[in-house]
Amino acid sequence: MAYMASEITDIADMPRGGPDASCLDRLLETNRREYLDRDDVDDEVKRGIVTALDVIGNLFREHDRNAELVLREVADVIDPTILELGAGHGALSRRVLEQHPTAHVTVSDVNAESVAAIAASDIGEHPRATLRTIDATAIDADDGSFDLAVFALSFHHLPPTQAALVLAEGTRVANELLVIDLPRMPSVLHIAKLAAMAPLVWWPFVHDGLVSSLRSYSPSALRALGAHAGVEVQVSTNPFDRQVLRARRRR
Ligand SMILES: C[S@@+](CC[C@H](N)C(=O)[O-])C[C@H]1O[C@@H](n2cnc3c(N)ncnc32)[C@H](O)[C@@H]1O
Repeated sequence: MAYMASEITDIADMPRGGPDASCLDRLLETNRREYLDRDDVDDEVKRGIVTALDVIGNLFREHDRNAELVLREVADVIDPTILELGAGHGALSRRVLEQHPTAHVTVSDVNAESVAAIAASDIGEHPRATLRTIDATAIDADDGSFDLAVFALSFHHLPPTQAALVLAEGTRVANELLVIDLPRMPSVLHIAKLAAMAPLVWWPFVHDGLVSSLRSYSPSALRALGAHAGVEVQVSTNPFDRQVLRARRRR
């Protein structure tokens, strides 16, 4: 069911837990940025994190499950055109290209090094793949260029104002935007998770995982972002699994 939250004016100050976040949830936030988002961090460190994401995604079949979600959204479209934003390692696009015989996929990331690494892989040679460097908050594409845009495990990287821009831009250039991201856990479980991860924070992959957890959006935050962006959103969440948001332009 489509749900529209009442608009909140100060979207930039919205807690990650949403307008109705508890005091404890508001404490479980950080302004610290992930290494992946920092210009002062070596590209080698960033590549290491992206490679670890790819390996873990393979191990736990995350890429396959994300591809399933993408393919379900375009099941009724003949020769679908798909834009992947924030592709990182490109594994999701690779799965989609393997599993759909006619889909055309534009594989993109804001990080030009990541795009170059994907271009140097098998995807760079694929006849139905196009590689682009794209900022999801300001997409250089005409309105309605794609059937579907997808942003996986990346939405929490963006503060609320930019996140709302992604919803507006993704639904401008595509008929539907699919956001797949980490869930925001109930606070007590969240504290337990952070405590379990803390001893490994020296590992950049875990550092970014910890920061991601603190920056993940709750369902009410996602709905408020949708209302602010003026788009219809549907959110399905599970505190132990991925959170999925489907966004469309209002008719
Ligand atoms: C945690 S990685 C996720 C990679 C991959 N999608 C996955 O599922 O494993 C986050 C990615 O989002 C990208 N990213 C961050 N901000 C972005 C933006 N404004 N536009 C496009 N991509 C962005 C980063 O460069 C990085 O590759």
